[in-house]
Amino acid sequence: MSCAHAAGIRPATFGVLRLPRNIVVGAQQRFAIADIAAELGDSVLICTDPRLAASDELQTLVTSLESRKLSVRVYGETQAELPTPGIVACVEELKGQDIDVVIGFGGGSCMDMAKVVSVLLTHGGQPSDYYGEFAVPGPVKPVIALPTTAGTGSEATAIAVVSDPALGMKMGISSPHIIPFAAVCDPELTYTCPAPLTAATGADTFVHLVESFTAITREPTRTLANERVFVGKNVLTDSLALDGIRLLGRSLATAYKDPGNTEARADMMLAALYGGIVLSNAGTAAAHAIQYPVGALTHTPHGVGVGLLLPYVVRHNFSAIEPQLAQIADALGREIKGLSVRSAAIAGVEAIDEVIATIELPATLQDLGVQEGDLGQIARLSLNSKRLIDNNPVPLDLESVTSIVNAAYAGDRTIR
Ligand SMILES: NC(=O)c1ccc[n+]([C@@H]2O[C@H](COP(=O)([O-])OP(=O)(O)OC[C@H]3O[C@@H](n4cnc5c(N)ncnc54)[C@H](O)[C@@H]3O)[C@@H](O)[C@H]2O)c1
Repeated sequence: MSCAHAAGIRPATFGVLRLPRNIVVGAQQRFAIADIAAELGDSVLICTDPRLAASDELQTLVTSLESRKLSVRVYGETQAELPTPGIVACVEELKGQDIDVVIGFGGGSCMDMAKVVSVLLTHGGQPSDYYGEFAVPGPVKPVIALPTTAGTGSEATAIAVVSDPALGMKMGISSPHIIPFAAVCDPELTYTCPAPLTAATGADTFVHLVESFTAITREPTRTLANERVFVGKNVLTDSLALDGIRLLGRSLATAYKDPGNTEARADMMLAALYGGIVLSNAGTAAAHAIQYPVGALTHTPHGVGVGLLLPYVVRHNFSAIEPQLAQIADALGREIKGLSVRSAAIAGVEAIDEVIATIELPATLQDLGVQEGDLGQIARLSLNSKRLIDNNPVPLDLESVTSIVNAAYAGDRTIR
């Protein structure tokens, strides 16, 4: 809304909260899955990837499901970043099988695989039939999401992200119908994440929380709740976003440096879940829009790309989100008492920089191997992600996205 843009974003008074029907959080809670699945049917498909398919954890999960007399099939070939041909291959393999429940066991790629496989098993067709918002025509076979990274938050979201080789980019399928029936968040499953994966997935969580908390505030029209999956700044998710930022601020660096720290892992699992809830209802913005072409070009993990971009995006948006940046500064432990809003907001930007620096992400697009000649194309392709561009707190056009991309290339961290 232009008035929101002109005056900076207002606090939200409108909210939408679409969630999994069951959310279970805590150490050992993966053992709750067998009972949840048994209530939904007799036949379970587990979508996972080759690494996790070979793990003891997968075997334990299968054994616990079988102990409830469920028939279990494992598809263990999910590929990272979810190329669409792999999804189609999985569904082909399942032809003629009755599947009642689909479990996504792994990082975002496996959970999104479970969502898209469930859509195709229920409604047929190809992944591309469902790109965009509200294209899934009705309920799908129930999905149980069991994350092993902290994380994408996919366990709680209404979106699945796929890589479409025909289009050369990532595409989203966004529909409330694909929100998992159950999200089971057991931090013990993340203990094996190596430091670079903890950093990339933790950065993803951080960007979900910050971008959703600083998203555009829309006019709450009579139709808004049903015409968008991602509604912008949201009174029902703002406090979760701040709680998630607080948890992440106290524990991401520890989880990164000390992978066996159980308290830090628990905090991060919860922060990731909150990140998923807030992104799925409020929605993310420019850092995600720009990461799509950057990821396609550099094959950078999603979290690394969005994390690298965040400091440049919040600087670009600065004048519209000063009060929110001040709240972020506070949530990240900065002393802001007595400061002007502008000074507290600057402390917020510095605190964001520090989180990203602590986990040693690359600092510029140049560090990712982007060439100066690629910048124009990155800016142009970013504008294709209209839902993300429209969710940014200040309006974005080619010129403004180009200025963010140029700053991220050159490492220009000026606050204007
Ligand atoms: N649906 C959503 O809401 C949403 C949100 C953000 C990102 N995504 C998507 O999620 C995908 C990225 O997911 P991700 O970052 O979780 O990574 P991932 O699922 O692609 O996994 C990356 C690698 O980490 C390994 N791994 C996973 N868990 C591990 C563990 N506990 N120990 C050791 N290794 C482990 C995997 O085997 C894989 O090799 C991208 O496709 C991204 O676009 C989806």
